[in-house]
Formats: sequence, C-alpha cells, structure tokens
Amino acid sequence: MAADLRALQLGDDGRLRHLVTLDGLPKAVLVDLLDTAAAIAAATGGKVKKLPVLRGRTVVNLFFEPSTRTRTSFELAASRLSADVVNFDVANSSTTKGESVLDTLRTLEAMHCDLFVVRHKENGTPEYLARHVRDGVSIVNAGDGNNAHPTQGLLDAYTIRAHKGADFQRLGVLLVGDILHSRVARSNLHALRTLGVGDLRVCGPRALLPTDLGAGVQVFEDFDRALRGVDVVMMLRLQKERMQEALVPSEAEYFRQYGLDARRLSLARPDAIVMHPGPMNRGVEIASDVADGPQSVILDQVSNGLVVRMAVMARLVGAGPV
Ligand code: NCD
Repeated sequence: MAADLRALQLGDDGRLRHLVTLDGLPKAVLVDLLDTAAAIAAATGGKVKKLPVLRGRTVVNLFFEPSTRTRTSFELAASRLSADVVNFDVANSSTTKGESVLDTLRTLEAMHCDLFVVRHKENGTPEYLARHVRDGVSIVNAGDGNNAHPTQGLLDAYTIRAHKGADFQRLGVLLVGDILHSRVARSNLHALRTLGVGDLRVCGPRALLPTDLGAGVQVFEDFDRALRGVDVVMMLRLQKERMQEALVPSEAEYFRQYGLDARRLSLARPDAIVMHPGPMNRGVEIASDVADGPQSVILDQVSNGLVVRMAVMARLVGAGPV
C-alpha cells in the first residue's frame, strides 16, 4: 500500500480512521479486528444484544449499488452498537438529479453524521471520500467496483480462523471463478497473504484471471488440479454486470468446468470448508447440494459479518476493548 493510503487509514497513533482497503494493513491491525469481533461474539453470546459503543453516533449507509447482505449487516451492526442509522435511499435521492457523491456526503456531514458506509461501482470512490471528509468522520468501504471489499475479506478470514484455527501458515486456500471482477477476491488475497496463508491458490478460466495477482499466489485453470489437498474452497459469482462482453461460454459449460459439485469437492481435504460471499447462482458456480451440504459455511459467513462489522465500527470510533 502506498504510504499515503496507509496514513489515510491509520492515524499517527496507529488507530483505524477509515477502512477503504485491506491492502497493506499491518497484520496486527487485522488480528486485532478479528479478536475484537470474537470478543463481541463472546459478549453477545450469539444473541441480539445491544452494546453502548456507538451511542450518540450516527451511521449512514450510502449504497450506490445493489446489496442484500452487506447493507443489512452494516445496518444491524450499527444498531447493535446503539448508533442511529440512516439508510440513504439513492434511488429516490438528489443523486438522480445529478448531485455529486461528495456533495451528497457534505450535506449529510452537515447533519452531524459520524460514519459513512459506502458502496459504489467506481473503483476508488470510498478512498476519494475518505480524503475529503471532515476530521473525525470515518468512511468504511462496503465494496467499490472490482477494487476492494475489506469487511468481506475480514469476515472471510474470521470464518476461516473460526473453523481452521489461527495457524494460517499450514492452510491451503483456493479462490475459484471470476477473480478478475471480484473485489471480494482482492480483499481476501490481501488479508490471507498478510495473515500468512501457506498455500494460496486461485482458479478460473483464463479470461477471468487477472495478471497482477502478485507474488505467492498459485494460478490454476484446471479446477480438479487446483482443488487437491486444500482446506478452504471459496466460490465466486460470475459478475456479468461488470463484463463488457461475454467472457465465458454458456452457464452450463461454465458449471461443467468451474462449478463446485460433490465429486469435485471430494478432491479437496475431507474436512475442507466451502465458502461463498453471496449472492449465489446455484447451478452456475455451485451445486445446490454442496451449497447446502455439511461442508458449507456460507451462512456462518453471513452471521460472522455482523460481529466483524461491529468490530470495525467500534475501532473506528476509537472504542477500547469491547
Ligand atoms: C459481493 C459483492 O457485492 O462484492 N457480495 C457481497 O458483498 N457479499 C459479491 C458479489 O456480488 O458477487
């Protein structure tokens, strides 16, 4: 991460000010966020219990792209930390009258909002806003283009740690599918590399594999070979909305080559876990019996997203140990 991006995200005192990317965030910061999330999970015992951490604060969800789980999860996370939550309705807002994102944000800032959760189709929008907000106001990236989705990367790391333990070095983790358009894949690669995963693999058709994956990632086009011996299989959706042209043949052919079914899953370790950030396209990247099967932790990911987002927001407002 460029030094200025690091300075943007971490104050001089090392405190988290914004979360726009996991790229370059020190391991200690990632581990602290995972530990904080675990402490919240323990404190709330998996029940709906409100903590006073964000009392008197206002969190605004600014989603310029569709979302089901991420938006709901941020909303619940904020309200379980006792914040006031505003869900900004982009479809019925002045954005449709041509107001810029920054002017929208300035308007909401003037109403004393403290934390903005931003999803946007343009890469870099959350970073741009983070550079322009008032002191004391925080930005959390909830997904920008194909660039980053840091809370998803964190909740996936949390889920892997919860199932496989904290010794990431001995793990084999495979990400499969549309890596090229996936902000989830990028944030996962940043987190998993920093946490020290020993065997990091990606697999997909050549047209969907970026060329700038960086060191330490094994690239496969053959899914059967890629699966051998891995502990974690993370499936990704074909992001057709980000493709200018058809980059894969038919969905049926895609499933034949890159769909995870029971036969393929048996090539991974017998205790391998299956992940997917959602939304899933059953029968395209994953078979229903695998998605709903005993090795699937897909709904765990959703549950964990809540405590991880609570941890991120708690750290952004500078709350001590939860
Ligand atoms: C993903 C996203 O929007 O980046 N979903 C999510 O946030 N859980 C992945 C996707 O859209 O395929």
